[in-house]
Amino acid sequence: MADQQSDGERELEQTASDAAGEDELDPELAARRAAALAQVRKFGDPVLRTRARPVQRFDRALRFEVERMSELMNDAMGVGLAATQVGVLHRLLVYRVAQQAEVATLINPKIEWCGKEEEMVEEGCLSLPEVLVEVERPIHVRVRALGLDGEQILVEASGLEARVIQHEIDHLDGVLILDRTTREQRKGAMRALREGRQAA
Ligand code: NI
Repeated sequence: MADQQSDGERELEQTASDAAGEDELDPELAARRAAALAQVRKFGDPVLRTRARPVQRFDRALRFEVERMSELMNDAMGVGLAATQVGVLHRLLVYRVAQQAEVATLINPKIEWCGKEEEMVEEGCLSLPEVLVEVERPIHVRVRALGLDGEQILVEASGLEARVIQHEIDHLDGVLILDRTTREQRKGAMRALREGRQAA
């Protein structure tokens, strides 16, 4: 999800041509980013509407999957990525909300508790190029998940981190930000997606 270069709190999961300022991006980074984005499933791909299945095997293949996703997320300059976005129907997500932080991996995540306080913030998605819509979500969440070795993980997150986790868990349930925004904004987003497709 979000862009590490811009004010992350406002702009999640920036896509190739918007606020990250692709024109200012080093050409090599821009090429890596484009290559990574090309591997991310885009709106219209039925896999994005499919519910992912729990991970049952904590083996080398799983590690490999997580490494690949982390690399893609970094190259695409996103702050989060769900397995469904790379066509893998595993309940698995990676995220990193601060540039210097390590990539966090959550397997079979479940939101155990949400605070009552909610906030409306603009979000983007690597699977929805050119789209930014406002999404209202709880500011504080507590999430239970498993780590790469099957160990129990408890995450108490607020703000951007909480938002990214909720956005990525949505992906695992086949839910997109289009489903979580206003009717008006959804219409605008659909128009942008159509136009983007025609331009391509
Ligand atoms: Ni997304």
